[in-house]
Amino acid sequence: MAPVSIGLLGVGQRGLQHLKALWSSDDARITALCDPYPQNLEPAKIRQYIDGFSLDGIRTYTRFDDMLAGGGMDALYVCIPPNRHQDEVVRAARNGLHIFAEKPVSLYLDEALEQEAAIRQAGVLSTVGFNQRHCVWHTAVRDFLAGKRLVMMTVVANGALESHSVKHTHTEAEGGPANRVWAANMAWSGSTVVEAGIHQLDLMRYWGGDVDWVEARYVHRDPEDIVEGGDNPYAYSVTFGFANGTIGNMLMTRLRRTFYADGYQDIVWDHGHVKTEADGPVAWFYDGPFPPPEKVERNRLRHVLEVPPRNDNTLAINQAFVQAVKDQTEEPLRNTFSTSMNSHAAVLGANISDRLGGRRIDLNELLHAPQYAPYRRRPVA
Ligand SMILES: NC(=O)c1ccc[n+]([C@@H]2O[C@H](COP(=O)([O-])OP(=O)(O)OC[C@H]3O[C@@H](n4cnc5c(N)ncnc54)[C@H](O)[C@@H]3O)[C@@H](O)[C@H]2O)c1
Repeated sequence: MAPVSIGLLGVGQRGLQHLKALWSSDDARITALCDPYPQNLEPAKIRQYIDGFSLDGIRTYTRFDDMLAGGGMDALYVCIPPNRHQDEVVRAARNGLHIFAEKPVSLYLDEALEQEAAIRQAGVLSTVGFNQRHCVWHTAVRDFLAGKRLVMMTVVANGALESHSVKHTHTEAEGGPANRVWAANMAWSGSTVVEAGIHQLDLMRYWGGDVDWVEARYVHRDPEDIVEGGDNPYAYSVTFGFANGTIGNMLMTRLRRTFYADGYQDIVWDHGHVKTEADGPVAWFYDGPFPPPEKVERNRLRHVLEVPPRNDNTLAINQAFVQAVKDQTEEPLRNTFSTSMNSHAAVLGANISDRLGGRRIDLNELLHAPQYAPYRRRPVA
């Protein structure tokens, strides 16, 4: 069977990672690349990330209109900053292209809803770049938790505001941060919860199902501490209410001049905890006779989950998407655009809750009720 022909929109940090995964696949063939900055399409630059890359057989474009008109694609990857979306996903879906969209798919729920409707109505296949669902460790945790009564999930993610991989959008030419670190800027990233925390939230959904409501409080950055557009809050405290009654906690920080990062995950069911340690997930629970005949020692509670070596989950999500398109089935996918809407609503809802002083936001209302219409739409420039 012929390989799947793929176009990629946005040849930056994430686009290059996907390009690398696809470049090594016999089932995929890159046919088109599009980026508004010609430098990002230079083969010599791309070769810095992908050994042996060449543009043979690949058309390059600086305008999406031309890329779409050029045809020759079965599927489109969309890897652009979340505030830069226009109607690329909608138009690609209406043109029958299967869609791989990077998260967050937009900073505005109206746009995400429009993209979702276009994909659903066109009947094309889709996925959103929640690669962590393809990590074998996280999947082992999911399997271990199956059938257990979850009660709480907690994620702590401390990071440094300045530390971020190289970004390729020329934000300085588009009214954004001069240093290109757009992930530190609220207008470009939508907040750290929206841009980065969405991975952790989606992982909680992978383990615990859909979110019904969200409440959030942020500690916003002092104006005198904003440097080069890095205005995202210092600290975020978000509570997610899951449909199955589980509580989810997300605590994130992004400090300047600190360069400290660490993290913690704790998933609690009614009779134990699962934590991800450096060598893999570990469950803590008591499985002896009850009541115990003697004092229970801590090491008696520790159960290392049997997991394969950690895999390259970016490669895995690419393989799943290409396989899905090849076989014309959603079966290999761990999310679709439609099933990912709950993740988008949950993190965008956190921002709205913070703006409203910590009010509980019901996600179904946020997505559909008239009272939230002003919060769903992109502000007029
Ligand atoms: N799943 C993950 O692990 C992961 C990791 C990193 C980034 N991301 C996501 O991927 C997306 C892209 O982020 P990035 O880190 O690659 O950013 P980036 O700035 O490094 O790259 C974005 C690329 O898109 C191009 N671009 C900008 N506007 C465009 C437009 N309108 N049309 C076409 N191309 C355009 C830029 O020139 C740049 O080359 C973001 O949504 C980000 O959150 C996901």
